Amino acid sequence: MNCTRNSLLIATLCSATLLVTGCPSVTTPLPTPEEDPVQVGPVSFSTQIQPIFDAQCAFCHAVDGIAQASVPLLLTAGDSYAMLVGQPSALDASLTFVVASDSAASLLLTKVESSNPPVGSQMPLGGTAMSAADVNLIRTWIDEGALDN
Ligand code: HEC
Repeated sequence: MNCTRNSLLIATLCSATLLVTGCPSVTTPLPTPEEDPVQVGPVSFSTQIQPIFDAQCAFCHAVDGIAQASVPLLLTAGDSYAMLVGQPSALDASLTFVVASDSAASLLLTKVESSNPPVGSQMPLGGTAMSAADVNLIRTWIDEGALDN
């Protein structure tokens, strides 16, 4: 195979494509990076943690949600903080949802991080596992003292 002729053909085709579509580096916007913006100051419960619950948990963990048949845990805005921090699991009272400053001892974290939590199933139940970024936000929020901020 004649490489020089091949390259020439490819180069010609590419230039022709560029003429038709324009320069891709100028017209195509760069993909948005997946990473979260750099965290400045402590994680905010109301603006960073509650939105995770709103999107992935609250439709079951609401007054009229299906989780109520098994556990009384509400993760709806205005209810979730008091339900979680220092509160025992309804399935095993020796386990605490959120132990302020101790994510390793917090059932909330094991329930979203582990496929085999100490009680029940991984959350969100029946859904896609929580992203590592969201899990890390929850971990950081707990280890920073589980502030109601
Ligand atoms: C499809 C409905 C559904 C979704 C979505 C869901 N849960 Fe649950 N959740 C349940 C049910 C049912 C239980 C009780 C059985 C169990 O623990 O596996 C439960 C139990 C829990 C418990 C333990 C309660 C206790 O008293 O021990 C925690 C903590 C929890 N969920 C957190 C979450 C979080 C955080 C999310 C979002 C990431 C979430 N859940 C999403 C249905 C759901």
